[in-house]
Amino acid sequence: MDISSRRKFLTVSLAALATAAGGATLYPLFRYLAPSRSAESGQKITLQLADIPEGGAKYFELNGTAAVLVKSKSGSLAAFSAVCTHLGCIVQWQKGQDQFLCPCHGGLFSVAGAVLAGPPPKPLEKLPFVVSGDSIVVG
Ligand code: FES
Repeated sequence: MDISSRRKFLTVSLAALATAAGGATLYPLFRYLAPSRSAESGQKITLQLADIPEGGAKYFELNGTAAVLVKSKSGSLAAFSAVCTHLGCIVQWQKGQDQFLCPCHGGLFSVAGAVLAGPPPKPLEKLPFVVSGDSIVVG
């Protein structure tokens, strides 16, 4: 292999490496910034009312995203995306306190999804649901 061939081989190898590194860096950024397909997919999930104790919560996945159905101490139902509106951690239901705590930065949400404390800029995203007999259809 002469110097010209080595130089060409090195140039092609570095270009391939730079392309791979760029793709590895940009793809996660694209996935993070791209809108979720879940909002348009229109899937629904059916849960049993008996599976949610008073003051408790039931976590599930809806369209590939963590979601939660809560029954407050007063018995009212609400469904939310369980994804924190700050940086996307999954909020945890605080049984007995009727509120959600985000473990990442201490964001606190009410049983209605409103921001009570911490850095989250918006309330939890509400999900539509319908109670039908002993079932709840979310989505
Ligand atoms: S990600 Fe929830 S408070 Fe930061």
